[in-house]
Amino acid sequence: MAAPGWDRLWTGVQLATMTDRSLGVIRNGAIASAGGRIAWVGREVDLAAGQRREAAEVIPCGGAWMTPGLIDCHTHIVFGGDRSDDFRRRLHGESYSDIARGGGGIMSTVRATRLASMEELTRSAAARGRELGGWGVTTIEVKSGYGLDLETELRMLEVAAALPRHIPADISPTLLAAHAIPPEYAGRRSDYLKLILEAILPAALEQGHATAIDAFCEDIAFTPGEARAVLEAGIDAGLHGRLHADQLSDLGGGALAAETGALSADHLEYLSDAGVRAMASAGVCAVLLPGAAYTLGADRLPPVRALRRAGVTMAVATDANPGSSPITNVGMILNLACIRFGLTPEEALLGFTSAAARVLGLEDDRGTLEPGKRADLALWDVEDPAQLCYWMGASPLSSLVRDGVPLAVAPSSPG
Ligand code: NIG
Ligand code: FE
Repeated sequence: MAAPGWDRLWTGVQLATMTDRSLGVIRNGAIASAGGRIAWVGREVDLAAGQRREAAEVIPCGGAWMTPGLIDCHTHIVFGGDRSDDFRRRLHGESYSDIARGGGGIMSTVRATRLASMEELTRSAAARGRELGGWGVTTIEVKSGYGLDLETELRMLEVAAALPRHIPADISPTLLAAHAIPPEYAGRRSDYLKLILEAILPAALEQGHATAIDAFCEDIAFTPGEARAVLEAGIDAGLHGRLHADQLSDLGGGALAAETGALSADHLEYLSDAGVRAMASAGVCAVLLPGAAYTLGADRLPPVRALRRAGVTMAVATDANPGSSPITNVGMILNLACIRFGLTPEEALLGFTSAAARVLGLEDDRGTLEPGKRADLALWDVEDPAQLCYWMGASPLSSLVRDGVPLAVAPSSPG
């Protein structure tokens, strides 16, 4: 057989390829990379002797499990300050919504983010990105939304887009100027909407970092009509649509995501049956965020069984943010997705790989172990992939590969 020209070949590996909406397990497998892409995947016995010889480097894995690099498709890791004060107030009995209405919550993070320098925002976001990397995450979606003015929204996107200079992860930046009405627009919400549509969105398009547009559709944030206007403008301009939908009440967010052609509706604790049907027929993905439901003590859970029955693709993400999900521990999120939301371990892992790639419009590029996909690979010190969801301890990541290149050490070494 002709020289395959492979840069690397991993042998003796249990592959969870995440293909066909299943773990797609290949036992005693091998996987090769060339030019940063996966060049070959299969059973080691099917590897021709010539192919093995021609690989520039062979890495024996001793039976370890490998998944694609994980994809965290919903985060807010760029922000200033912290929200331990909200945390304390909630534990003294105030609600998330009451704190938000009183100028705390998202608004306190907006104040801190506006005051933070580019360097401060970069340093803290990179630290959070490194924590995610310690759990095998190689692609992170990062939202703006704590600036709520032209300058700070663009600064957040700039910081997000530059993170790959500091951490070994790819970033998908999302414009979330429609996260809350800023205090200087109190009583003038239509003027803020105008600012988003006529100034912030055009400037973000000009800047060129954002690949998606998002809005928080909720009575403490934007009405369905306002969220629709923002999504339609962004989608018309070529961005992917996302929506924070039906988290605290049923405002028809799932159906709105379907009508606007958004790729996902996220949260969904109050999603109705009609919303499930609308999402299923439009092919909108559900992004489940058990960290937020857990942190806020949600009284309702997303209708996972109905979503499953309807065949809606379910992604899972950390929602890492200072208020409602101060969590970068992917193991904890996987565990909550199973225990609290009732996902199977297979569904939870698909939620952080192939389903998450779909949410970001990257399904042709990553999220599964298949020839042609990016060679972003995570090797795990586990006996079974379900252990990633089951054992709540230190990260079992043993090594991480980006673009076919093994990283010297895992981004953070939690254990
Ligand atoms: O996804 N729901 C709105 N946005 C974030 C919360 C942001 C915050 O509380 O700072 C979320 O949960
Ligand atoms: Fe969010």
